[in-house]
Amino acid sequence: MQAWTLDGLGSALSVEEVADPPVRSGGVVLRMLAVQVPAYTRVLVEGGRGGIATPTVLGIGGIGIVEEVADDVTTVRPGETALCTGFLRSGRVAEPEEVLLGWTGIGGRGTTTATTDRMRRVWRTGTFAERTVMPGSAVLALPGADAYPDPTKLAFLPWLSVAAGAVERSGMTAGDRVVVLGASGQMGGAAVLLALARGAALVVAVGRDTGSLDRLEALDSRVRTVRSVGTRDADAAAIGAALGGEAEVVIDALGPTPTPDLTMAGFDSVRTDGTMVLLGGVRQFLPIPYDQLMRRRITLRGSWMCSEETAFRVWRQVQAGVIDLSALDVTTVGIDDPAAALTQAEQIRGLSIAVLTL
Ligand SMILES: NC(=O)c1ccc[n+]([C@@H]2O[C@H](COP(=O)([O-])OP(=O)(O)OC[C@H]3O[C@@H](n4cnc5c(N)ncnc54)[C@H](OP(=O)(O)O)[C@@H]3O)[C@@H](O)[C@H]2O)c1
Repeated sequence: MQAWTLDGLGSALSVEEVADPPVRSGGVVLRMLAVQVPAYTRVLVEGGRGGIATPTVLGIGGIGIVEEVADDVTTVRPGETALCTGFLRSGRVAEPEEVLLGWTGIGGRGTTTATTDRMRRVWRTGTFAERTVMPGSAVLALPGADAYPDPTKLAFLPWLSVAAGAVERSGMTAGDRVVVLGASGQMGGAAVLLALARGAALVVAVGRDTGSLDRLEALDSRVRTVRSVGTRDADAAAIGAALGGEAEVVIDALGPTPTPDLTMAGFDSVRTDGTMVLLGGVRQFLPIPYDQLMRRRITLRGSWMCSEETAFRVWRQVQAGVIDLSALDVTTVGIDDPAAALTQAEQIRGLSIAVLTL
């Protein structure tokens, strides 16, 4: 089969002919159909987003058809359409540890341990490939997905599910005013769709890229956009004006930013008893004033990945049309030229996604 392989961080992502992965204890073999190529994949390959266990077939997420199932796997059945989460847990309750397969990402304190090394050594195949073998716990059956009219759009389910994890952890309810920072990105765009589906009264979408923001505004009359200028006071004032006050929920889905200013402008917009959820890739210390957090009784939460139940709810909402994917614009890329695919992916933003079709 053909696969995108990575020998080490900083080396080129290349397409190679590799052996089909055999089914193994605890595992599931999938024939991949459609896998999102996130906008920041090139940066990740170059080492800009943390370590990856290499050499590896790269790739996380995606939709595939289950071809083979080990005797001890009961999560999916042969012939089913399934979602790859790529999210593997140690299952040890006393000291939970989590890793992403075929990608960068270690849960908890973000540092490798003997356990995370072992998990990533044993499972070393990603989803940018014609076939993959995944642990049974990292795949989710999607009953009815074979009848979904455009399977390439289902490649966005992993991003939607991760964004849904943040929306659920925010405790957002219908009628809430929601701010999404980094809404012009793919994760932020997903968070906007989720907030609308959950009945937000107003979603203030904050970003820089005007094209992405315009497309979000066209989605629904409940969306208002704010173009960030990058200074805390000005951005907070613009968000406040768009809200006509303060927000019950702020979701930060920003990529790496040079300062914490925009995140802090979000913090400034949270109302008393509101919640702010950090979902993005910001690597900054946040100057949170103790008294503000205390007096406004703000809940500040992190959100990394999501449960299988959350991902399944997202699928049900997509299937029912509650999450509206009509605005999602898919550019398909083939497996033969990974360099060109990464270039295309990084030029695409927000609710436009690049999808590897196989
Ligand atoms: N918590 C989790 O479980 C989880 C899972 C997956 C990914 N992530 C993280 O989520 C982040 C976002 O992912 P994505 O796919 O949406 O990435 P993306 O498509 O590259 O979007 C990044 C967003 O951040 C904004 N941004 C980047 N640099 C900025 C700056 N200097 N100032 C202001 N805004 C800036 C971008 O704005 P413009 O496009 O308008 O410039 C865009 O809205 C990633 O960094 C990733 O690490 C988290």
